[in-house]
Amino acid sequence: MTGVPHIPVLRDVVIDLLQPAPGKRLVDGTFGFGGHAREMLAAGAEVLGIDLDDDARRAGEALADEAPGFTLVTASFRNWGAVVKDAGWDGADGLLLDLGVSSLQLDEPEKGFTYRADAPLDLRFDRTSGESAAKLVARLDARALADVIFEYGEERGSRRIAAMIKRDREDGSVATTGALREAVVEAVGTGAHLNAVLSRVFQALRIAVNDELGALREALAAVPEVLRPGGRLVVISYHSLEDRIVKQWLTKEQRDCLCPTTIPICVCGHQRSLNVITRRPLKADAREVQDNPRARSARLRAAEVI
Ligand SMILES: C[S@@+](CC[C@H](N)C(=O)[O-])C[C@H]1O[C@@H](n2cnc3c(N)ncnc32)[C@H](O)[C@@H]1O
Repeated sequence: MTGVPHIPVLRDVVIDLLQPAPGKRLVDGTFGFGGHAREMLAAGAEVLGIDLDDDARRAGEALADEAPGFTLVTASFRNWGAVVKDAGWDGADGLLLDLGVSSLQLDEPEKGFTYRADAPLDLRFDRTSGESAAKLVARLDARALADVIFEYGEERGSRRIAAMIKRDREDGSVATTGALREAVVEAVGTGAHLNAVLSRVFQALRIAVNDELGALREALAAVPEVLRPGGRLVVISYHSLEDRIVKQWLTKEQRDCLCPTTIPICVCGHQRSLNVITRRPLKADAREVQDNPRARSARLRAAEVI
């Protein structure tokens, strides 16, 4: 870990939306290195930080020593309902998800999140449970691996890449980020698009080993129970798969009835639970993108519970 990073993505927008203040209880479901959480604490809010990563836990424990209003829980945000209850809170006034991988995780080659350095191919946020990316690749046949790369990486060359990964490898596996990179190079060459393809392949494996989309869906489903009336949800996504899930869920939750229009009266009984605040996703401005290129793909959506 290289210390407290950067200005967090869309910092001012997040703070404007969550309005941290004394007496407010906010949950940062993706604490990371605490960029957003520190801003909330500085404004006087009480903050519950959640993360699965080991370094995030250490950073959170250090922050808890300095800031009495802060607690760090090592858990998945998919369980934030239980985490909030266990903390003795009767609900939260705000929830934040700043999804995906942090720049410091990418900067630490030994975590195996980046194709820019050679390290064991792991890609788990929580390395104490579940299957590493190396094991996943070894377990899947070429067809199933191609499906993962296509579905979670939206990579059109998925079949060719999966075939190269599995080809000529005795146990059908790649153990390191370097070996995976080599297989991708064999499949697509070293042209200008190589880095984009590598990003998509690594993204696909990361999403699969961490069940990132499943965790997001579960976390969203719990929002109406976790947030107090008037409480706000803010989600920052970094790729279209996540943003689509958030958008579709928000659209559903702001409608009273979900029956098909061909049915004359409502039989589903669904009731709207929130108002969407951001009709379109908010994005970082050119200046922020220049300072922090990762902010380029950030899409922020927010809603308020009724
Ligand atoms: C983009 S970073 C958050 C950065 C943070 N907002 C900051 O300002 O430092 C995303 C973080 O979410 C964590 N994470 C990813 N999936 C998670 C999950 N299901 N539950 C808890 N934390 C998760 C990662 O370990 C990572 O630290």
